[in-house]
Amino acid sequence: VLKITLPHRFDFGEDRQLVGEDILHPEAWDALRLQTDGPFAIPADLDAAADAQPAARDRAEAIAAVLDGWEAQHLVSYGVGTALPERWLQRVRPNLRLTLTEYAPGTVARLQELLPDADVRRHDLRDGPADGDAHLFHRLDTDLDNAGWREVFGAFGDARIVVVATEVMPVRQALYRWQLVRRMPTHASRAGWVRTRGAFEALWRRTHTARPFRAGDLEAWALEPRS
Ligand SMILES: C[S@@+](CC[C@H](N)C(=O)[O-])C[C@H]1O[C@@H](n2cnc3c(N)ncnc32)[C@H](O)[C@@H]1O
Repeated sequence: VLKITLPHRFDFGEDRQLVGEDILHPEAWDALRLQTDGPFAIPADLDAAADAQPAARDRAEAIAAVLDGWEAQHLVSYGVGTALPERWLQRVRPNLRLTLTEYAPGTVARLQELLPDADVRRHDLRDGPADGDAHLFHRLDTDLDNAGWREVFGAFGDARIVVVATEVMPVRQALYRWQLVRRMPTHASRAGWVRTRGAFEALWRRTHTARPFRAGDLEAWALEPRS
């Protein structure tokens, strides 16, 4: 299984001045969440926005089925961003206790305003797990490099984790993607990393056993501690 990790770049167009050269810091994410009105922005009405993404229900149902299998009562989600996946999880499992965490402070404050009854906290996932009996990394894979992820999975070594991938890059696309990134305009911002399946699975091989599953249209894994 080929383990390939490539740098990812994204052209934010007019929002480039807000994001800067590299998306991977909390100020850049806050700028996208709070000062734009595109797909990265936190919508004023989260429930209406969740309604407009019916495909997210299938993702949530698949994640919830894994949590049911674990008899999880309290899920902590990291890097929640707009928190729409978590809105759907709460809809499909109203009795599940949910803690929403993010490292971008403005995003946390805005979510606390919009969701006054929810448990929303500022937390950097590199500081290890927050209290809960299951943990969700939903489309966070691009945000850390391989060494960063191995440290995170080490810190979460006793934890059950659902990992939902932004994208699993087919091995046959790797060369083409590499050329594409190199040819992107210089104003395209650095936007983390993309990985093949082998590269994903190498991140947690030492700490967790993994069962792959489909979360609707996305690829996912249910991780259990080896220890
Ligand atoms: C690609 S977005 C995914 C957002 C959301 N989970 C989703 O699936 O739509 C990555 C999010 O993770 C947050 N993030 C990045 N690094 C983080 C870290 N070390 N700790 C906590 N949150 C982080 C960013 O602020 C951003 O909102």
